[in-house]
Amino acid sequence: MSASGARDGASLLESLRAAMPPGVLLEDEAAAAPLLADHRHLYQGRALAIALPRSTAEVATLLAWCNERRIGVVPQGGNTGYCGGATPDESGMQLLVGLQRMRQVRAVDAANFSLTVEAGCTLAEVQQAAVAADRFFPLELGSAGSCQIGGNLATNAGGLNVLRFGMARALTLGVEAVLADGSVCSHLRALRKDNTGYDLVSLLVGSEGTLGIITAATLRLWPRLRATATAFVAVPDVAAAVALLARLRVAAGERVNSFELLPRSALELALRHIEGLADPLAAAHGWYVLCELSSFTEEPLADLLGQALGDALAAGLATDAALAANERQRAQLWRLRENVPEAQRRAGPSLKHDISVPIAALPGFVAEASAWVRAHVPAGMLVAYGHAGDGNLHFNISFPQETAAGQLAREEPVIRRAIHDLVAAHGGSFSAEHGIGRLKVGELERYAPPGTLAMMRAIKNALDPHGIMNPGKVLAAGGQGGETPGGH
Ligand code: FAD
Ligand code: MLT
Ligand code: ZN
Repeated sequence: MSASGARDGASLLESLRAAMPPGVLLEDEAAAAPLLADHRHLYQGRALAIALPRSTAEVATLLAWCNERRIGVVPQGGNTGYCGGATPDESGMQLLVGLQRMRQVRAVDAANFSLTVEAGCTLAEVQQAAVAADRFFPLELGSAGSCQIGGNLATNAGGLNVLRFGMARALTLGVEAVLADGSVCSHLRALRKDNTGYDLVSLLVGSEGTLGIITAATLRLWPRLRATATAFVAVPDVAAAVALLARLRVAAGERVNSFELLPRSALELALRHIEGLADPLAAAHGWYVLCELSSFTEEPLADLLGQALGDALAAGLATDAALAANERQRAQLWRLRENVPEAQRRAGPSLKHDISVPIAALPGFVAEASAWVRAHVPAGMLVAYGHAGDGNLHFNISFPQETAAGQLAREEPVIRRAIHDLVAAHGGSFSAEHGIGRLKVGELERYAPPGTLAMMRAIKNALDPHGIMNPGKVLAAGGQGGETPGGH
């Protein structure tokens, strides 16, 4: 920042302090530092100030103040996002707004199977509020203890139960949000049917802080699950996994709530880097599926799953399987899966590709993309795992700890282009569930269907004419694409 920029920053900060009630701004530098970098350490930002509002009214005052002065605003939830969307830029002139003080459960309506929570509640707190009312909130991510429901909605998060329950958007009935000019858009109605014009709730969900700040949400609940059956299954290849999924769906219908694919490399990373895990099967196999059936009533699901897996073994679609005999074993199987990202982080730098294709195209895509990686990225280890039941794989590549950041940065664009072009050729998406943020702005520009970007920009300009909401995220600020370095 230039000397005059620094002076402007100092006087703006004085004006902001005067405009807000005491205690809204975070003045402690040590507490501020972790909020200025993203989870993967791809980006290191600076901020004019960090505001931690306690109410929707305080968020509204902050945004009106920023809008008048054309100050960029970066909303932040639990800061677990993978695309750098919650990190301010390097100018030191943007306001970071963290929602962690807004964590009230405003209402639980067990009869209506809904609850209303403030944006700063962690996902785990929302799940617990549902359980306390003998209900179930099905969103489930490995980051549940730290991500916030506002961030989950802003990114339209997916996770481990999408196959049965859908992504965050499908779980949302209503949203309260503050728009760029400080006006409060309150759509907290708990209705299953509401056909009154444009679907603004769906628009705000998945907008990654570029249209407004979500301050509260009304969410759908389900009855508590009374039975589950979970198995870790060795499969000969990806085609067998896809065929197994179809069989399970025919045998168990909507009871199939998770179907996660893991290569041996992912299992080995988890076993090596996470304490207290064990291989559930006696021999090593190339591919595994972690699948789970669930029911709202007491049902013999283990019998149903056991029967279906027996048939799959006989048909050559599975080569071995371990069924969880109790809740402790079930939790251990899930720990194996949920810890893969953390294990991969501990193992060294990696490149992440959060892709989806139609499920039937998974085997072809994995074969072609893996062959490309083997031929062109000799230093990388493919760790392609994820929510195969949704056609979504984290087609990640791990590199040795000592890999120079410069080398990764040089190779990354070539690797990304090859993988994302293959995804496009298979009719898929380069961002299945993690969003666009800053990381994938250039990819959106490249792969968005004609007309889509123009429509998105028109919406953005209408709701945020001065472009203060999360500038440079999702849509290019000055027509420039985002860069995509490697990170942990
Ligand atoms: P942040 O990272 O703080 O923000 C993400 C984006 O949302 C930013 O653009 C930010 O500006 C915006 N934002 C945040 N809060 C608000 C708000 N209140 N109003 C408006 N905009 C807001 N993601 C998946 O989809 N599926 C997974 O399976 C999954 N597994 C994960 C496992 C691990 C171990 C980790 C670390 C992450 C995982 N994630 C997964 C990614 C991440 O947890 C999700 O994207 C999550 O929804 C982000 O929530 P957050 O509160 O941390 O948001
Ligand atoms: C997961 O499903 O574990 C995460 O979304 C994937 C990742 O960390 O790349
Ligand atoms: Zn995921």
